[in-house]
Amino acid sequence: MSPVLEIQGMSKSFVKKRNLIGMPSAHTHAVKNVSITLEKGRTRAIVGESGAGKSTVGRMALRLATPDSGSVKLFGEDIMKMSAKDVRRLRRRATMIFQDPFNSLDPLMLVGQSVAEPLTLHTPLRGDDRKQKVAELLERVGLRVDQLEKYPHEFSGGQLQRIAIARALSTEPELIVCDEPVAALDVSIQAQVLNLLLDLQREREISYLFISHDLALVKMFAHDVTVMRRGEIVEEGATEQIFSDPQDPYTKELLSAIPKMNPRKRAERRAAVTTA
Ligand SMILES: Nc1ncnc2c1ncn2[C@@H]1O[C@H](COP(=O)(O)OP(=O)(O)O)[C@@H](O)[C@H]1O
Ligand SMILES: [Mg+2]
Repeated sequence: MSPVLEIQGMSKSFVKKRNLIGMPSAHTHAVKNVSITLEKGRTRAIVGESGAGKSTVGRMALRLATPDSGSVKLFGEDIMKMSAKDVRRLRRRATMIFQDPFNSLDPLMLVGQSVAEPLTLHTPLRGDDRKQKVAELLERVGLRVDQLEKYPHEFSGGQLQRIAIARALSTEPELIVCDEPVAALDVSIQAQVLNLLLDLQREREISYLFISHDLALVKMFAHDVTVMRRGEIVEEGATEQIFSDPQDPYTKELLSAIPKMNPRKRAERRAAVTTA
Protein backbone atom coordinates (compact mmCIF):
# COMPACT_ATOMS: atom_id res chain seq x y z
CA MET A 1 0.00 0.00 0.00
CA SER A 2 1.35 3.44 -0.86
CA PRO A 3 1.93 5.90 1.99
CA VAL A 4 -0.79 8.39 2.89
CA LEU A 5 1.61 11.26 2.29
CA GLU A 6 4.81 11.26 0.30
CA ILE A 7 6.74 14.50 -0.11
CA GLN A 8 9.85 14.45 -2.25
CA GLY A 9 12.51 17.11 -2.60
CA MET A 10 10.17 19.97 -1.76
CA SER A 11 11.45 23.56 -1.65
CA LYS A 12 9.81 26.93 -1.17
CA SER A 13 11.08 30.53 -1.01
CA PHE A 14 9.23 33.65 -0.04
CA VAL A 15 10.07 37.18 -1.08
CA LYS A 16 11.52 38.87 1.98
CA LYS A 17 12.32 42.32 0.61
CA ARG A 18 11.51 44.35 -2.48
CA ASN A 19 13.48 47.22 -3.95
CA LEU A 20 12.10 50.68 -4.79
CA ILE A 21 10.39 49.54 -7.98
CA GLY A 22 8.86 46.49 -6.31
CA MET A 23 11.25 43.86 -7.60
CA PRO A 24 12.17 41.10 -5.11
CA SER A 25 15.60 41.83 -3.63
CA ALA A 26 15.84 39.20 -0.90
CA HIS A 27 14.28 35.78 -0.33
CA THR A 28 13.61 33.54 2.64
CA HIS A 29 14.36 29.92 1.83
CA ALA A 30 11.60 28.61 4.05
CA VAL A 31 11.82 24.96 2.94
CA LYS A 32 14.82 23.30 1.29
CA ASN A 33 14.72 19.90 -0.35
CA VAL A 34 12.43 18.29 2.21
CA SER A 35 11.24 14.70 1.83
CA ILE A 36 8.72 13.15 4.20
CA THR A 37 6.72 9.93 4.25
CA LEU A 38 3.70 9.25 6.44
CA GLU A 39 2.04 5.85 6.63
CA LYS A 40 -1.59 5.07 7.33
CA GLY A 41 -2.62 5.25 10.98
CA ARG A 42 0.71 6.71 12.06
CA THR A 43 1.82 10.02 13.49
CA ARG A 44 4.87 11.80 12.18
CA ALA A 45 5.98 14.83 14.13
CA ILE A 46 7.83 17.70 12.54
CA VAL A 47 9.85 19.47 15.22
CA GLY A 48 12.14 22.46 15.19
CA GLU A 49 12.25 25.99 16.48
CA SER A 50 10.06 28.82 15.24
CA GLY A 51 10.81 29.74 11.63
CA ALA A 52 12.19 26.29 10.75
CA GLY A 53 9.63 25.88 7.95
CA LYS A 54 7.30 23.40 9.70
CA SER A 55 4.01 25.16 8.95
CA THR A 56 5.02 25.81 5.35
CA VAL A 57 5.61 22.07 4.88
CA GLY A 58 2.22 21.32 6.45
CA ARG A 59 0.41 23.76 4.18
CA MET A 60 2.14 22.50 1.07
CA ALA A 61 1.25 18.92 2.01
CA LEU A 62 -2.42 19.86 1.58
CA ARG A 63 -1.93 22.18 -1.39
CA LEU A 64 -2.75 25.22 0.73
CA ALA A 65 0.59 26.62 -0.52
CA THR A 66 2.48 25.83 -3.71
CA PRO A 67 6.04 24.47 -3.63
CA ASP A 68 8.64 25.96 -5.97
CA SER A 69 9.92 22.46 -6.68
CA GLY A 70 9.47 18.88 -5.57
CA SER A 71 6.41 16.67 -5.49
CA VAL A 72 3.63 15.86 -3.04
CA LYS A 73 1.63 12.68 -3.28
CA LEU A 74 -1.47 12.28 -1.14
CA PHE A 75 -3.11 8.87 -1.12
CA GLY A 76 -0.84 7.97 -4.01
CA GLU A 77 -1.84 10.91 -6.25
CA ASP A 78 0.32 13.87 -7.24
CA ILE A 79 -1.60 16.82 -5.82
CA MET A 80 0.14 19.40 -7.98
CA LYS A 81 -1.32 17.75 -11.07
CA MET A 82 -4.88 17.59 -9.77
CA SER A 83 -7.82 19.47 -11.26
CA ALA A 84 -9.80 21.89 -9.09
CA LYS A 85 -12.47 19.22 -8.77
CA ASP A 86 -9.96 16.65 -7.51
CA VAL A 87 -8.59 19.16 -4.99
CA ARG A 88 -12.10 19.63 -3.66
CA ARG A 89 -12.42 15.88 -3.25
CA LEU A 90 -9.08 15.93 -1.46
CA ARG A 91 -10.38 18.45 1.10
CA ARG A 92 -12.68 15.74 2.40
CA ARG A 93 -9.89 13.27 2.92
CA ALA A 94 -7.14 15.55 4.24
CA THR A 95 -7.58 18.54 6.49
CA MET A 96 -5.81 20.75 9.01
CA ILE A 97 -6.15 21.83 12.64
CA PHE A 98 -4.44 25.05 13.69
CA GLN A 99 -2.85 26.32 16.86
CA ASP A 100 -5.31 29.01 17.74
CA PRO A 101 -8.90 27.79 18.05
CA PHE A 102 -10.05 31.37 18.66
CA ASN A 103 -9.05 32.26 15.11
CA SER A 104 -9.95 29.04 13.36
CA LEU A 105 -13.70 29.32 14.02
CA ASP A 106 -15.84 32.13 12.61
CA PRO A 107 -16.83 34.30 15.62
CA LEU A 108 -20.14 35.21 13.97
CA MET A 109 -21.26 31.63 13.35
CA LEU A 110 -22.94 29.39 15.90
CA VAL A 111 -20.58 26.48 16.57
CA GLY A 112 -23.19 24.10 15.17
CA GLN A 113 -23.02 26.01 11.89
CA SER A 114 -19.22 25.89 11.91
CA VAL A 115 -19.24 22.11 12.33
CA ALA A 116 -21.95 21.72 9.67
CA GLU A 117 -20.16 23.85 7.07
CA PRO A 118 -17.76 21.17 5.73
CA LEU A 119 -20.69 18.75 5.56
CA THR A 120 -22.53 21.19 3.32
CA LEU A 121 -19.47 21.77 1.16
CA HIS A 122 -18.27 18.22 0.80
CA THR A 123 -21.10 15.77 1.50
CA PRO A 124 -24.69 15.31 0.34
CA LEU A 125 -25.99 15.40 3.93
CA ARG A 126 -28.78 17.96 4.46
CA GLY A 127 -31.56 18.80 6.90
CA ASP A 128 -32.09 16.42 9.79
CA ASP A 129 -29.38 14.03 8.61
CA ARG A 130 -26.83 16.81 8.73
CA LYS A 131 -28.10 17.95 12.14
CA GLN A 132 -27.82 14.41 13.43
CA LYS A 133 -24.24 14.12 12.16
CA VAL A 134 -23.26 17.45 13.77
CA ALA A 135 -24.73 16.30 17.09
CA GLU A 136 -22.78 13.02 16.89
CA LEU A 137 -19.56 14.90 16.14
CA LEU A 138 -20.01 17.26 19.07
CA GLU A 139 -20.73 14.38 21.40
CA ARG A 140 -17.69 12.52 20.11
CA VAL A 141 -15.40 15.37 21.13
CA GLY A 142 -17.03 15.55 24.56
CA LEU A 143 -19.39 18.50 24.21
CA ARG A 144 -23.11 18.62 24.88
CA VAL A 145 -25.53 18.94 22.01
CA ASP A 146 -27.20 21.98 23.57
CA GLN A 147 -23.87 23.78 23.05
CA LEU A 148 -24.47 23.81 19.30
CA GLU A 149 -26.45 27.00 19.60
CA LYS A 150 -23.65 29.03 21.13
CA TYR A 151 -20.99 31.33 19.73
CA PRO A 152 -17.22 30.71 19.97
CA HIS A 153 -16.72 33.44 22.60
CA GLU A 154 -18.86 31.41 25.02
CA PHE A 155 -16.28 28.60 25.15
CA SER A 156 -12.85 28.05 26.70
CA GLY A 157 -9.76 27.45 24.54
CA GLY A 158 -9.83 23.70 25.13
CA GLN A 159 -13.52 23.44 24.24
CA LEU A 160 -12.96 25.48 21.10
CA GLN A 161 -10.12 23.25 20.01
CA ARG A 162 -12.39 20.24 20.46
CA ILE A 163 -15.01 22.00 18.33
CA ALA A 164 -12.35 22.65 15.70
CA ILE A 165 -11.53 18.92 15.83
CA ALA A 166 -15.24 18.06 15.43
CA ARG A 167 -15.31 20.31 12.38
CA ALA A 168 -12.17 18.70 10.97
CA LEU A 169 -13.65 15.22 11.57
CA SER A 170 -16.95 15.98 9.88
CA THR A 171 -15.88 14.70 6.48
CA GLU A 172 -14.16 11.63 7.97
CA PRO A 173 -10.63 12.57 6.90
CA GLU A 174 -7.84 10.03 6.63
CA LEU A 175 -5.10 12.60 7.22
CA ILE A 176 -5.04 15.59 9.56
CA VAL A 177 -2.18 18.08 9.61
CA CYS A 178 -2.10 19.32 13.21
CA ASP A 179 -0.15 22.57 13.38
CA GLU A 180 0.77 23.13 17.05
CA PRO A 181 -2.74 21.97 18.01
CA VAL A 182 -2.32 22.35 21.76
CA ALA A 183 0.35 25.03 22.04
CA ALA A 184 -2.21 27.68 22.99
CA LEU A 185 -3.86 25.55 25.69
CA ASP A 186 -3.21 25.01 29.41
CA VAL A 187 -1.19 21.91 30.22
CA SER A 188 -4.14 20.01 31.76
CA ILE A 189 -6.29 20.80 28.73
CA GLN A 190 -3.49 19.82 26.35
CA ALA A 191 -3.75 16.26 27.66
CA GLN A 192 -7.50 16.11 27.00
CA VAL A 193 -7.12 17.27 23.43
CA LEU A 194 -4.17 14.96 22.73
CA ASN A 195 -6.02 12.00 24.20
CA LEU A 196 -8.94 12.78 21.94
CA LEU A 197 -6.62 12.79 18.93
CA LEU A 198 -5.08 9.49 20.05
CA ASP A 199 -8.49 7.85 20.54
CA LEU A 200 -9.59 9.01 17.11
CA GLN A 201 -6.45 7.56 15.59
CA ARG A 202 -7.15 4.19 17.21
CA GLU A 203 -10.80 4.23 16.13
CA ARG A 204 -10.34 5.43 12.58
CA GLU A 205 -6.71 4.85 11.62
CA ILE A 206 -6.26 8.56 10.96
CA SER A 207 -2.73 9.65 10.07
CA TYR A 208 -1.36 12.78 11.68
CA LEU A 209 1.34 15.12 10.53
CA PHE A 210 1.94 16.65 13.94
CA ILE A 211 3.79 19.95 13.89
CA SER A 212 5.21 20.97 17.24
CA HIS A 213 8.09 22.70 18.92
CA ASP A 214 7.30 20.81 22.15
CA LEU A 215 9.47 17.70 22.29
CA ALA A 216 7.96 16.39 25.50
CA LEU A 217 4.59 16.14 23.74
CA VAL A 218 6.12 14.65 20.62
CA LYS A 219 7.75 11.90 22.62
CA MET A 220 4.37 10.77 23.93
CA PHE A 221 2.39 11.30 20.77
CA ALA A 222 4.40 10.54 17.64
CA HIS A 223 5.65 7.29 16.10
CA ASP A 224 8.22 9.01 13.91
CA VAL A 225 10.00 12.34 14.09
CA THR A 226 11.43 14.67 11.49
CA VAL A 227 13.71 17.38 12.86
CA MET A 228 13.87 20.59 10.82
CA ARG A 229 16.26 23.48 11.12
CA ARG A 230 16.26 26.57 8.90
CA GLY A 231 14.18 24.90 6.22
CA GLU A 232 16.12 21.64 6.10
CA ILE A 233 15.70 18.20 7.60
CA VAL A 234 18.64 17.55 9.90
CA GLU A 235 17.51 14.18 11.21
CA GLU A 236 14.60 11.77 11.11
CA GLY A 237 13.69 8.41 12.52
CA ALA A 238 11.50 6.44 14.90
CA THR A 239 10.61 8.53 17.97
CA GLU A 240 12.35 6.14 20.37
CA GLN A 241 15.51 6.20 18.35
CA ILE A 242 15.59 10.00 18.01
CA PHE A 243 15.08 10.45 21.74
CA SER A 244 17.45 7.75 22.93
CA ASP A 245 20.19 8.12 20.36
CA PRO A 246 20.09 11.45 18.53
CA GLN A 247 22.77 11.83 15.88
CA ASP A 248 22.64 15.44 14.81
CA PRO A 249 24.06 18.16 17.11
CA TYR A 250 20.94 20.26 16.62
CA THR A 251 18.66 17.39 17.68
CA LYS A 252 20.83 16.92 20.77
CA GLU A 253 20.51 20.61 21.53
CA LEU A 254 16.71 20.47 21.21
CA LEU A 255 16.52 17.41 23.45
CA SER A 256 18.77 18.89 26.09
CA ALA A 257 16.29 21.74 26.43
CA ILE A 258 13.46 19.43 27.57
CA PRO A 259 14.57 18.81 31.18
CA LYS A 260 14.57 22.56 31.74
CA MET A 261 10.83 22.34 31.95
CA ASN A 262 9.54 22.52 35.49
CA PRO A 263 9.75 18.86 36.70
CA ARG A 264 6.46 19.06 38.58
CA LYS A 265 4.66 20.26 35.47
CA ARG A 266 6.27 17.55 33.42
CA ALA A 267 5.17 14.85 35.85
CA GLU A 268 1.66 16.32 35.88
CA ARG A 269 1.48 16.33 32.16
CA ARG A 270 2.79 12.80 31.77
CA ALA A 271 0.29 11.54 34.33
CA ALA A 272 -2.54 13.37 32.59
CA VAL A 273 -1.76 11.94 29.18
CA THR A 274 -1.00 8.37 30.18
CA THR A 275 -3.81 7.78 32.65
CA ALA A 276 -6.78 9.59 31.07
N1 LIG B 1 3.45 33.66 3.59
C1 LIG B 1 4.72 33.95 3.88
N2 LIG B 1 5.31 35.05 3.35
C2 LIG B 1 6.60 35.35 3.62
N3 LIG B 1 7.40 34.61 4.42
C3 LIG B 1 6.87 33.52 4.99
C4 LIG B 1 5.50 33.13 4.75
N4 LIG B 1 5.25 31.99 5.46
C5 LIG B 1 6.40 31.69 6.10
N5 LIG B 1 7.36 32.59 5.83
C6 LIG B 1 8.76 32.55 6.33
O1 LIG B 1 9.25 31.24 6.10
C7 LIG B 1 10.01 30.79 7.22
C8 LIG B 1 9.40 29.51 7.77
O2 LIG B 1 8.14 29.81 8.34
P1 LIG B 1 7.15 28.73 8.97
O3 LIG B 1 6.93 27.64 7.97
O4 LIG B 1 5.96 29.45 9.47
O5 LIG B 1 8.03 28.16 10.17
P2 LIG B 1 7.58 27.40 11.51
O6 LIG B 1 6.18 26.90 11.32
O7 LIG B 1 8.58 26.31 11.68
O8 LIG B 1 7.68 28.39 12.61
C9 LIG B 1 10.03 31.93 8.21
O9 LIG B 1 11.21 32.66 8.02
C10 LIG B 1 8.82 32.75 7.83
O10 LIG B 1 9.01 34.10 8.16
MG1 LIG C 1 4.49 27.31 12.45
